[in-house]
Amino acid sequence: MPAISVANPKGGAGKTTLAFVLACELARSGASVAVIDADPNAIIAGWGRKRVEQGRASPFEIIAGPKESELVRLIDQYTTSHDFVLIDLEGTASRMTSRAFARSHLVLIPFNLSPIDAELAANAVALIQEEAEALGRQIPFRLVRSRDNAAIQTKTAKRIIGAIEEAELPLLSVGLVERAAYRDIFDFAATLEELEEGTTSGLSTARKNAYEVARAVIEAVQTEMAA
Ligand SMILES: Nc1ncnc2c1ncn2[C@@H]1O[C@H](COP(=O)(O)OP(=O)(O)O)[C@@H](O)[C@H]1O
Ligand SMILES: [Mg+2]
Repeated sequence: MPAISVANPKGGAGKTTLAFVLACELARSGASVAVIDADPNAIIAGWGRKRVEQGRASPFEIIAGPKESELVRLIDQYTTSHDFVLIDLEGTASRMTSRAFARSHLVLIPFNLSPIDAELAANAVALIQEEAEALGRQIPFRLVRSRDNAAIQTKTAKRIIGAIEEAELPLLSVGLVERAAYRDIFDFAATLEELEEGTTSGLSTARKNAYEVARAVIEAVQTEMAA
């Protein structure tokens, strides 16, 4: 039922990776999942195409390259037929992004813990707030730490997180950690579940992290839908 958009005007923020990992995790937990790939880079759609070429099924449905004019209809259609709809958005602010926000139960904003990226994440938040103002209602969102250092938190990271807390911006309790597995899923056209310990290092940490991130997102979307 819920539609979850993944947005941040900054390219390389980790939107596609987060959307994909969530889709895999939600599907693994038994939910029916549809991914609308509105990223011009079409990484998730490409992943799906490779699967088809190799005769391997995909655990979730992929809707590739939606037109701006059909996005709202697609979101409405798939939120009716599926348990979760994930929308991987393009880097730039656009009408496509605005429409996705207007139809989303939750917007996730992944960002890297660097000062420049944190500032760009703040722009993404401003974009959501602008859209919310135009709509005349709140658009629930969470900032999500991306490519997080699993072992240590640097002083810079602490400072950025401190600033987010001070600004009272909602931050997802769990971030997506930096892991080779999150790159190998695309390299091997695989899910986290399908990757093998022999070829991908730190796989069990990635799987545990993906599970925890998905739990936190489900909790956030439930909180917002109940409100
Ligand atoms: N958690 C992560 N661990 C390892 N690599 C990551 C992670 N998140 C993103 N990346 C890598 O960073 C790059 C940008 O990520 P991507 O998800 O494509 O960002 P966006 O969709 O915001 O442009 C890609 O090369 C991707 O493989
Ligand atoms: Mg992307």
